[in-house]
Amino acid sequence: MSKVLVAYFSVSGVTRRVAENLARVEEADLFEIAPETPYTAEDLDWKNKESRSSVEMADPNSRPAMKGPKPDLSAYEVIFLGFPIWWNREPSIVDTFLDGTDFTGKMIVPFCTSGGSGLGATTDRLNNLIGRKGQVIEGKRMGGTVSMEDLKTWSDGLDL
Ligand SMILES: Cc1cc2nc3c(=O)[nH]c(=O)nc-3n(C[C@H](O)[C@H](O)[C@H](O)COP(=O)(O)O)c2cc1C
Repeated sequence: MSKVLVAYFSVSGVTRRVAENLARVEEADLFEIAPETPYTAEDLDWKNKESRSSVEMADPNSRPAMKGPKPDLSAYEVIFLGFPIWWNREPSIVDTFLDGTDFTGKMIVPFCTSGGSGLGATTDRLNNLIGRKGQVIEGKRMGGTVSMEDLKTWSDGLDL
């Protein structure tokens, strides 16, 4: 198999832990999708319609800036893409990561953590975002404490 990348966004560390374990299981490279301006607790207040996350997530065209350049994806055929569910979908900064990148011939496998929501329509959204040049396959919601064994069983079961 060619080189594998695990790219992830995480604010409070739950998705980060899963991503790090998945990278170990897959012997994959790890890339953090980090925001140029870090999210504060106030930014994440979903009860406040004016909070940064509420404003960003209400606008499907929002593309918060990433810190640093995007990675060179040329060596990767498979990209695991991890994020927390925000408002039932991927956070806008994940859209920043996907936007304007050529995923031709690449397979993207989303995984998420959440308070309970699954990926829902997120796979379709991501496929639309990458313009169907590459392919986003059906991914999985992970519990924050998912074991390395369970991650391996999951990834072994994917048709990569
Ligand atoms: C702004 C915001 C919106 C969220 N929306 C949802 C949601 O719609 N459904 C859900 O189950 N959890 C939701 N959550 C909870 C996160 O998905 C969950 O805590 C996640 O595991 C955090 O991952 P992280 O530690 O990697 O940032 C939301 C959290 C935030 C901050």
